[in-house]
Amino acid sequence: MEKRLATKILFWSFFIALVQFSCQVKSQEVEDEREFNYDEESEKGPARWGDLHREWSMCKNGQMQSPIDLLNERVEIVSHLGRLNRSYHSSNATIKNRGHDIMLKWIDGAGYIVVNGTQYVLKQLHWHSPSEHTINGRRFNLELHMVHESPTGQTAVVAIMYKIGRPDSFLSMITNHLAAITDITEKEIVLGIIDPKQINIGSRKYYRYIGSLTIPPCTQNVVWTIVRKVRTVTREQVRLLRVAVHDESNSNARSLQPINRRKVHLYRPEDPQQN
Ligand SMILES: *[C@@H]1O[C@H](CO)[C@@H](O)[C@H](O)[C@H]1NC(C)=O
Ligand SMILES: *[C@@H]1O[C@H](CO)[C@@H](O)[C@H](O)[C@H]1NC(C)=O
Ligand SMILES: *[C@@H]1O[C@H](CO)[C@@H](O)[C@H](O)[C@H]1NC(C)=O
Repeated sequence: MEKRLATKILFWSFFIALVQFSCQVKSQEVEDEREFNYDEESEKGPARWGDLHREWSMCKNGQMQSPIDLLNERVEIVSHLGRLNRSYHSSNATIKNRGHDIMLKWIDGAGYIVVNGTQYVLKQLHWHSPSEHTINGRRFNLELHMVHESPTGQTAVVAIMYKIGRPDSFLSMITNHLAAITDITEKEIVLGIIDPKQINIGSRKYYRYIGSLTIPPCTQNVVWTIVRKVRTVTREQVRLLRVAVHDESNSNARSLQPINRRKVHLYRPEDPQQN
């Protein structure tokens, strides 16, 4: 009799523990995918990012936040910055649906850029749609962020904006992989060798300013390089990247942030033959 009761108790404790455990696992998964989102109405929306974690306070208190509007009147045209010094090479990459965007990551980096004497290694890229930066108030359909890191942990982002038109060849190259991960979050798929030189920039002109990451923790002192030429992408390519965003807003672009007397430069080569 006593033995049966003990067995029963044991069974029920085990059962309850199991239920609790599976509930925990479930909420953690949701947490991971939706620690923040782009829904302005939501408790985890952009207006609240700075309150969600102490480490994310820059999202509301920072004075050098991104993105910004690149208003041509405010931009100072310079030639001293020089051509963007890039030294990329092909390298093994993975792709992952992070729930708020799709990220392509190079396992061992894929070369570097040099800005003001500092090397920044290319670590990953991801897309925002519509674009986060605007030019004279105009927002475009897509923005690519190539994220680089220096040995001391400083970040430099090279951004390219796209409007609807001819297909982007880099996206065409990885279309099958994109389709394969749209419904899978938090799982990395090995892409294989990907050459960042295949990402077309097509212009030497670029904007330069000091800003922040556009997602939490909104870390500042990020060196931004935004290619002046707006390139093209098809609607279908934008759609493939967009379905990754698992919230109602169907957008993963942060709203414009105050410039606060920051300088924005536009690099233009001295020789007008060069574009
Ligand atoms: C690019 O950076 C490397 C390393 O700092 C430097 O040796 C090279 O001269 C730079 N190239 C140009 C065109 O500035
Ligand atoms: C790329 O990395 C993955 C995961 O580490 C590995 O399984 C694969 O063999 C690598 N591919 C190449 C071509 O190095
Ligand atoms: C470039 O680097 C030098 C030396 O590290 C530094 O003094 C200067 O402020 C930097 N310039 C810019 C525009 O960051």
